[in-house]
Amino acid sequence: MYKIRIRGGARLKGEIPISGAKNAALPLMAAGLLTGEPLVLTNVPKLADVAFMADLLRLFGVDVEWTGEASLGQGGRYRLRAGTLQGTTADYDIVRKMRASFVVLGPLLARAGEAKVSLPGGCAIGARPVDLHLKALEALGATVELTEGYVIASAPKGLKGAVIEFPFVSVGATENALMAAVLAEGRTVIANAAREPEIGDLGRCLSAMGAKITGLGTPRIEVEGVDRLHAAEHSVLPDRIETGTYAMAVAIAGGEVELTGTSLELVGAVADLLKSVGAEIAATKRGFKVTRNGYRPVSASVETQPFPGFPTDLQAQFMALMATAEGVSRIRETIFENRFMHVPELLRMGADIKVDGDTAIVTGVPSLTGAQVMATDLRASSSLVLAGLAAEGETIVNRVYHLDRGFERLEEKLGRVGADIERLPT
Ligand code: EPZ
Repeated sequence: MYKIRIRGGARLKGEIPISGAKNAALPLMAAGLLTGEPLVLTNVPKLADVAFMADLLRLFGVDVEWTGEASLGQGGRYRLRAGTLQGTTADYDIVRKMRASFVVLGPLLARAGEAKVSLPGGCAIGARPVDLHLKALEALGATVELTEGYVIASAPKGLKGAVIEFPFVSVGATENALMAAVLAEGRTVIANAAREPEIGDLGRCLSAMGAKITGLGTPRIEVEGVDRLHAAEHSVLPDRIETGTYAMAVAIAGGEVELTGTSLELVGAVADLLKSVGAEIAATKRGFKVTRNGYRPVSASVETQPFPGFPTDLQAQFMALMATAEGVSRIRETIFENRFMHVPELLRMGADIKVDGDTAIVTGVPSLTGAQVMATDLRASSSLVLAGLAAEGETIVNRVYHLDRGFERLEEKLGRVGADIERLPT
């Protein structure tokens, strides 16, 4: 077990390379189930969740090879080959540990005609049901049963193209529907599809594997099913949440940092918000530069929205920034019902935050103070690291395994731009 120690007050200067996106890599790996030929993924971040997905795929008989150790800024390479599937069951013990494993349901069903995947249950950030995933697969002709905590889906004669209309946007349900539809017979329309860049990345990889998809990046994705997919190589897109987190690190600590291997297009709403609170942002050839010198950031209010809106996965980090800003900020969480676990921890660092239903009212204080803190999810943990960068004295962030699920070598990346940060055994 590890903890992270931060001594606050250092300004950040230099360059941070951005890794491939966790939330793109996980469904891309699941897409490897759709063909017996090899799928090679490059720019894969070395993260606990990614290693976990690799172990899950091995249980289905997928030959998984990790070549190329990820160096800072240069992701690893996975070669996946799902020659003959040796199983189609994802147990409770697996899905419970990583909810994102539920995304194997669509590809397993499409490839094997059957799948048994544990219902994920609630998680730290909310109830998170999977009804939309199941309705989408039923629309494609699957029979779906819920028994003893498991989803048992079958389509022995194959899936059939259909119109799937989501009542609201779901990233995971769009991914499951898309991966099922590529091997369905005929045409599928996914209406009110998620527009997150990770969906576009998945669609581009599936297209490279031979799928026929149009409308990626729009709310209406159309798929013409094909009989089989083939080998392909695909590079995982940059992590927009990691990008936004380090942009906010500069905004909270002050300084000037170039984020490389990423792009402003991935974080449009975030960049606009950061500019409005006093950071300067300028595109560069390799990414963009974030600068904040001089005065304290000023407050701004925001609500989380599906892409292209402000992402829920950056809400906690923005709250840490607003905790030190001048003025009052209202931060409304509209995607998950329980995503304010960082609030009590920020309060322990001297923040002034009141939660009223889905809204946190943050009154900025001139400075936070270091403390021992911990959080129960990945993004909340990163917000505590950010708060520690700006706090007076020493902050210890416990339960670092949350951070390791989604931030590749966080202390190394922040350390190289001048943060006083260290990983220590507990
Ligand atoms: C993805 O989760 C991400 N995970 C999350 O990132 C991210 O916070 C979320 O999208 C929103 O952007 C991965 O990509 C692996 P949703 P997902 O389905 O797909 C409700 C992180 O920190 N809903 O878009 O699970 C749901 O409860 C993680 O990296 C249903 O009601 O999110 C939520 O309120 C955390 N029924 C809303 O929709 C369903 O069948 C959006 O969830 C599905 C979802």
